[in-house]
Amino acid sequence: MKIFVTGATGMIGTGVVAELRGAGHRVLGLARSEAAAAALARMGAEVHAGDLTKPDTLVEGARACDGAIHLGFVMDFQDLPGAFATDRRAIEALGSAFAGSRRPLVFTTGTLVLPAGRIGTEDDDGDLAASAGFRVPAENLALAWADRGVHVSVVRPAPTVHGPRDHHGFMPMLIAAARKAGSSGYVGDGSNRWPAVHHDDCARVYRLALERAAERARYHAVGEEGVAMRQVAEAIGRRLGVPAVSLSPAEAEARFGPFLGPLVASDNPVSTALTRQRLDWAPAHPGLIADLEAAHCYARN
Ligand SMILES: NC(=O)c1ccc[n+]([C@@H]2O[C@H](COP(=O)([O-])OP(=O)(O)OC[C@H]3O[C@@H](n4cnc5c(N)ncnc54)[C@H](OP(=O)(O)O)[C@@H]3O)[C@@H](O)[C@H]2O)c1
Repeated sequence: MKIFVTGATGMIGTGVVAELRGAGHRVLGLARSEAAAAALARMGAEVHAGDLTKPDTLVEGARACDGAIHLGFVMDFQDLPGAFATDRRAIEALGSAFAGSRRPLVFTTGTLVLPAGRIGTEDDDGDLAASAGFRVPAENLALAWADRGVHVSVVRPAPTVHGPRDHHGFMPMLIAAARKAGSSGYVGDGSNRWPAVHHDDCARVYRLALERAAERARYHAVGEEGVAMRQVAEAIGRRLGVPAVSLSPAEAEARFGPFLGPLVASDNPVSTALTRQRLDWAPAHPGLIADLEAAHCYARN
């Protein structure tokens, strides 16, 4: 199949392109710059010039393909409402391109759309009150295309997608904050859990979701269902040679900022039983703590 991929040059997208090509698919990647086009060519993908902020370019790219995976995201911490509005417009454009065609379209949200404090499953709807509740409208918008003749899947990656290509996710942010503060922080007793996944295990979920082409499905790209944040802070502290310390929620917000601070305190255990069963998938790459003990996590921070 020929697959249109937005975000193909990103951390997860790079792995998805390799997965798709390894399984014999052709990839048409969205590129908004010459640098992105060159990167796609190096990966063996074809290039579609366009931009997430120009929905027509997304329609054109998708219409040239048998399926699509949407991973591109305009991450703007100064204007998160604007970023999510752009994402919703992109979802509408991609859905409209495939309306009535029964072609597979895979979208992206995250496990932080699930209610905190209890194990969330793939069959649980997103909760507007969750840590990433702001992403729930996009998930619902995406799934609604299943009623209009599109085979829609939503992949929810763990908030911690880790591995050698991760230079900008939450772990590099925690590492940078620990370096700056001289201590590695967790909130309260640090027993709150975040799920985690290696970026290449995550990429395989996307490829399998696309190939399964269910009429309407949600999957969890999660290798470890819940790693205690105290363990994370201790692993970072060991590597940096700084102590792991307990912070109050207010201290966490002062240290990590208004976006990441509350997330560091959140408890987001999730199940992957349905993803494993429906996609015959299991993680094969190192877990989060093993990764945090490797030099690559600290090379650019
Ligand atoms: N990383 C995580 O830990 C994590 C966890 C949960 C969910 N997610 C979600 O998974 C998705 C992919 O994450 P990621 O970490 O792989 O992202 P990433 O590495 O930041 O890559 C973002 C991608 O979006 C593209 N992009 C940004 N603005 C664009 C624009 N205006 N027009 C066209 N392309 C544009 C970038 O292209 P350029 O090469 O041109 O910059 C890049 O390919 C996102 O929706 C993210 O929120 C990620």
